[in-house]
Amino acid sequence: MPLVTTAEMFKKAYEGGYAIGAFNVNNMEIVQGITEAARDLNAPLILQVSKGARAYANHTYLVKLVEAAAIECPNIPIALHLDHGPDFETCKSCIDGGFTSVMIDLSSKSFEENIEGTKKVVEYAHDHGVVVEAELGTLAGVEDDVRVSAADSSYTRPEEVEEFVAKTGCDSLAIAIGTSHGAYKFTADQCTRNEKGILVPPPLRFDVLEEVSKRLPGFPIVLHGSSSVPQEFVKLINDNGGKMPDAVGIPEEQLRKAARLSVCKINIDSDLRLAMTGTIRQFFNEHPDKFDPREYLKPARANIKEMVKHKIVDVLGCDGKA
Ligand code: G3H
Ligand code: 13P
Ligand code: ZN
Repeated sequence: MPLVTTAEMFKKAYEGGYAIGAFNVNNMEIVQGITEAARDLNAPLILQVSKGARAYANHTYLVKLVEAAAIECPNIPIALHLDHGPDFETCKSCIDGGFTSVMIDLSSKSFEENIEGTKKVVEYAHDHGVVVEAELGTLAGVEDDVRVSAADSSYTRPEEVEEFVAKTGCDSLAIAIGTSHGAYKFTADQCTRNEKGILVPPPLRFDVLEEVSKRLPGFPIVLHGSSSVPQEFVKLINDNGGKMPDAVGIPEEQLRKAARLSVCKINIDSDLRLAMTGTIRQFFNEHPDKFDPREYLKPARANIKEMVKHKIVDVLGCDGKA
């Protein structure tokens, strides 16, 4: 089937108490690993592309890869989404260029500027049959070249969400409840350690999520920065020459809880990177004589597929929902 918007997926996800996985794509093997997992489990899917991905792989290559995936997986709905669109021009370029959904991220601007800029994108997008995700509140962590410290991050203020959604007309809203971008989501100071010495992050602010949902009944909420940073991949990297001490993510059971509530879209990028990098590091450690990219990208793609299957079943709960 052709690429779809997220409207129908979110409606069903909200009512069904599950979330759709939004996975960042940068090359063919990542697209294939994710879509093969969703196809095998009959799960709806969002493939998303950042400004950095467009700069790396080129807009046309990414659109055509995702369109190819939709042809290869005709039985599942797939949306193509712009992740963290920084301005109107980037959103317009994606709306004109085959995307079915865009995010305009003006969360670092004032409330008024965020409303004004988001509204402009919504008007253009809706005129072209494309849906829009906006953001209120600021996540910590690294996205594109921007690093936001924990001190500069801020939770979403529930008292602002009704006015924001009414004035902008956005179709979904990303909120800040304590998730964070990247593989180092929390400093050791912010965490406690469990009996195995693994860092345990502070819990997500479900009180903020519940207050937002109360004020926006039936409205799809989005969580960014939701990789769980699986410790087996961190270990795989560190055991094979990497150096990622104290990488820590969001516990999966908290994401599952959010998916049962109003969260309809959960963004995952870092976990894909960890799966791919860990697998390739291990391959080279075990086969220092090999140099055919197909030989090391094949197991990397297979491990991405397995990891995404796990997310679909155990975190998102969207298997069989296509
Ligand atoms: O939130 C950011 C995403 O993980 C995209 O990362 O800008 O490095 O492509 P990127
Ligand atoms: P992670 O860094 O936790 O994978 O978050 C990705 C994300 O939010 C993309 O927008
Ligand atoms: Zn994000």
